[in-house]
Amino acid sequence: YCLIGGELVEWEGDMQTVNSPISAGDEVIRLGSIPMVSADLAMEALHAAETAYNNGIGEWPSLPAHRRIEVMLEFLEDMQTKREEVVELLMWEIAKPKPDAEKEFDRTIEYMRDTIRSLRTMENQSCKAHTAGGVLAYVKWSPIGVVLCMGPYNYPLNETFTTLLPALLMGNTIIFKPPKYGVLLHTPLVELFKKHFPPGVVNIIFGSGRTTSTPILASGKVKGLAFIGQSKAAAELKKYHPKPHQFNTLLGLEAKNPAIVMPDADLDEIMPEVISGAFSFNGQRCTALKIFLVHKSISKQFLQRLSEKADTLKIGLPWEDKVQITALPEDGKTDYLQSLVDDAVEKGAQVVNRVGGRSEGRYYFPTVLFPVNSNMRIYHEEQFGPVVPVVEYEDSSEVVDFLIHSHYGQQASIFGNDPEQIGELINHINNLVGRININSQCQRGPDYLPFTGRKDSAQGTVSLNDALEAFSLRVILAGKLT
Ligand code: G3H
Repeated sequence: YCLIGGELVEWEGDMQTVNSPISAGDEVIRLGSIPMVSADLAMEALHAAETAYNNGIGEWPSLPAHRRIEVMLEFLEDMQTKREEVVELLMWEIAKPKPDAEKEFDRTIEYMRDTIRSLRTMENQSCKAHTAGGVLAYVKWSPIGVVLCMGPYNYPLNETFTTLLPALLMGNTIIFKPPKYGVLLHTPLVELFKKHFPPGVVNIIFGSGRTTSTPILASGKVKGLAFIGQSKAAAELKKYHPKPHQFNTLLGLEAKNPAIVMPDADLDEIMPEVISGAFSFNGQRCTALKIFLVHKSISKQFLQRLSEKADTLKIGLPWEDKVQITALPEDGKTDYLQSLVDDAVEKGAQVVNRVGGRSEGRYYFPTVLFPVNSNMRIYHEEQFGPVVPVVEYEDSSEVVDFLIHSHYGQQASIFGNDPEQIGELINHINNLVGRININSQCQRGPDYLPFTGRKDSAQGTVSLNDALEAFSLRVILAGKLT
């Protein structure tokens, strides 16, 4: 079912089968199917969202914030009852290891509770009158209109809800299209959106992004786009909107976060962060460590430790204890990874660990490539998989050069122990990324921190306040003191 204008709409056209990346031997496991809705139905969703936005006094956009907060808290309370079902589907649909799936669910709820606290603070602050210059002025946070929300398969719940729910909380009306993989897990939530929000405030459609989002954006009626996913897709989506000046975007995109390993890094100490940064959820995190720039003086020791660990990562099913490498959900992904590895090997790199450089079914084995250089595709492309390129550097200017020339600028990690050298490097790269991690992996959390990036990695910031502000406008109420 889609949710349009408060009604569950049964789609009678094309359906797409959803298979699990996990198979039973050679047998594919079918999980269900989803509607592939037409452009016409997508436009109906837009119409419903627009109507709900323009419904007038007493409706969602004009409710006081505290009323919207009440509704959201009730929704979150009810959402908790779906935890087991959603976690189960996260494992079956995208092979996310159980602890990560549980964390994805829990942090989404927690993030929203923190966001609500932020909104209360914003509202309290805006109640304070400004009285300078003989004018009495208040700030009122006001919604902007219909917001289209789309998220990625690696965090299909969290990365959509952390933009969708704040946009909703600010009084906007929503069209939500879940991702291609990690889609069924949204079906138990459709009925909750229907139950808690007024008709048309949340509209959910399924199907091809191109068929649904293109006409919605081309109509020029959408006032906001929250999109987490590929940089190229985001650039295309933005082009469809005919009025860019009337359109807010919040984009979380690709990355090529480097881990810089300095000569004095304590290799044993840093290895847990290195391994988790590079391989957790098969490296399918935008924040994963996607390239290692290692000082020449310790590259041999580093490679030895990294390879040993990569060879012993547990490969298996998401619900198995301590599993680290699972099946890859995207069709064609193992071929893509193999093409990156083959390209690097043809150009002079080696697969330095025992198990690496090959796939079996939908599993790609953890792979360490060395020596990697800028002629190789893996130096530039976001692999989003368990393949780790290692580059040797001699002078820190090479590290800075990597970031200057990269298309991306999300985060970097520095592993080392000399505060002066670390400080100097920070001075050189802080204008090239959105976050620098010292002796720890790149990551989004803790979630109260602003999450952003530069160049093709992001537009805007996701954080408790920023996600609220992204789709709202400060309207000033001003009067003369008489
Ligand atoms: O895929 C991108 C996510 O925002 C990464 O979040 O660092 O918490 O895994 P994470």
